[in-house]
Amino acid sequence: MENKKIFLIFGNPVSHSKSPLMHNYFFKKENINACYGRYLLTNGNEIISKFKELKINGANVTVPHKEWAYKEADEVRGIAKKIGAVNTLVNENGKIIGYNTDAEGFLEVIKEFNYKKVLIIGAGGTAKALSFVLPKANILNRSEERLKDFQEKVTFTWNNINNFDYDLIINTTSAGLNDDNLPAPAIILEKLFKKARYAVDVIYGKETPFLKLAKKYNLITKSGIDMLVYQGVMAMEYFLGKKLNRKKVAEIYFEILKG
Ligand SMILES: NC(=O)c1ccc[n+]([C@@H]2O[C@H](COP(=O)([O-])OP(=O)(O)OC[C@H]3O[C@@H](n4cnc5c(N)ncnc54)[C@H](OP(=O)(O)O)[C@@H]3O)[C@@H](O)[C@H]2O)c1
Repeated sequence: MENKKIFLIFGNPVSHSKSPLMHNYFFKKENINACYGRYLLTNGNEIISKFKELKINGANVTVPHKEWAYKEADEVRGIAKKIGAVNTLVNENGKIIGYNTDAEGFLEVIKEFNYKKVLIIGAGGTAKALSFVLPKANILNRSEERLKDFQEKVTFTWNNINNFDYDLIINTTSAGLNDDNLPAPAIILEKLFKKARYAVDVIYGKETPFLKLAKKYNLITKSGIDMLVYQGVMAMEYFLGKKLNRKKVAEIYFEILKG
């Protein structure tokens, strides 16, 4: 029998992560001889030495270590090179390769949407990652400071937004995560939702005020659970070194997360 493969997630904190639940359920369902754990890592600069010391086959990386994983990986491939952050590490014959499946997973979520004009709300790490896979998107942020990171983009703050014509509105802020805030004033969102067809939130675990409002305007919506699932499906493709039937694997992940 083949040796058991070991995977884990590095983060700080890491106890809240749904990745072990998702991936272990998949291994069990598919009869794959592997297991997936979590590792509380304090010093991000030790991520690759820990990976090698633990002799694991692959890992995911969550807050706040994604930039460290990018810096320390033996090689970085794909969109992760542009984003500057790695959320998936794979052991390829002793060489630790870094990928970013957050942004790729997001594209998979909106694959069936028919959109041209996109507005990203927020200007933090998630907005940055998504802006690489949605290069024509405009950005709306509460304050000016972080918009400096989006020099080549059309950007607005709440005070100067003058374009409300978008098909797809994405909330990447943490507004609504631990409170009932909207990511922008209702008057702005209502003008946007009147014209838009789709609204996606990256927050998961609850229906946010942003998505509740979008539903009032009959928009087609997706929550952060979809992004979580698809970043996991794509990470699994890297872990197993093969293409998967993404829709089918996603259904397995949804099954355990919703249950
Ligand atoms: N579903 C998934 O798989 C997934 C993956 C990654 C992240 N996420 C979620 O994405 C969210 C953002 O993470 P991040 O790492 O990108 O955060 P971040 O880098 O800290 O950026 C936070 C952004 O949110 C804005 N913001 C915060 N509170 C706000 C409020 N009350 N009203 C309006 N804007 C507000 C900030 O605006 P200012 O610049 O004005 O401060 C900033 O643009 C988190 O909720 C995280 O859980 C989900």
